[in-house]
Amino acid sequence: MGIHIKSPEEQQLMRAAGKAAGTVLEFITPHVKAGISTDELNTLCHNYIVDGLGLIPAPLGYGEGPGRPPFPKSVCTSVNHVVCHGIPGPKPLKKGDVVNIDVTVIKNGFHGDTSKMFTIGEPKIQAKNAIDVALKSMWLGIHQVKPGGTLRDIGRAIQTYVEANRCSVVREYCGHGIGKVFHEDPQVLHYDDGSRDFVLQEGMTFTIEPMVNAGKRHTRLLPDAWTVITKDRSPSAQWEHTILVTKDGFEVLTLRDEERAAGYPEKGAIA
Ligand code: MF3
Ligand code: CO
Ligand code: CO
Repeated sequence: MGIHIKSPEEQQLMRAAGKAAGTVLEFITPHVKAGISTDELNTLCHNYIVDGLGLIPAPLGYGEGPGRPPFPKSVCTSVNHVVCHGIPGPKPLKKGDVVNIDVTVIKNGFHGDTSKMFTIGEPKIQAKNAIDVALKSMWLGIHQVKPGGTLRDIGRAIQTYVEANRCSVVREYCGHGIGKVFHEDPQVLHYDDGSRDFVLQEGMTFTIEPMVNAGKRHTRLLPDAWTVITKDRSPSAQWEHTILVTKDGFEVLTLRDEERAAGYPEKGAIA
């Protein structure tokens, strides 16, 4: 497969795709409340992506393989102990639930991929902790991104922080290169497997999307062949951004205004 280094023109297209993906999360945020079903959230996102933005929702029809049907919906919605790839369904969200909405759009042939956690009312302390730890770990990973840095630096920063905070990192799923292809090389592990001395270069684009469990790290795949849950049914949290390696650091292509307002950086440079 190989790694695709994006030209300045391709970087501009990735910026536009990333920004669009972020706006879908901004659009859906006020709708994520007790009583709405994840299927209704999916329909709202689908219509916004297709009719509002004129774009393609990448998950819809994606990923058919041996023993696995194509993904049937336009976003992934992962509630409580669902780790990732939850399929939107008819069950209404209720107070105390936590849900990840994962949006991927295709704009001018390029993908933007980002996800965010939402809380319905007050979640239990375990779930809240996993959400906070996952968010912080994603940003620690992002801050490792610079030319000359390694994938290993990213995984190590995330794992160290998560495990120091009484949570665990899911190992079966990882971040990924992204561009014209939804999931391309390299794989971006959220832990240190000791073998990722792969050096980052300007123009690479990939996601960082740690899945953090309040309990043990192990997962189970449901018979629908998509939904991943925690084996111990502990709550799980995930955040995701699409990142560009710049001349001297990183750029977060999917940053939202609410994050900017909260002081999260669009760009970072080697000190
Ligand atoms: N958006 C997910 C990711 O971050 C992938 C979803 S694939 C789907 O990589 F088919 F489940 F949508
Ligand atoms: Co992704
Ligand atoms: Co995603």
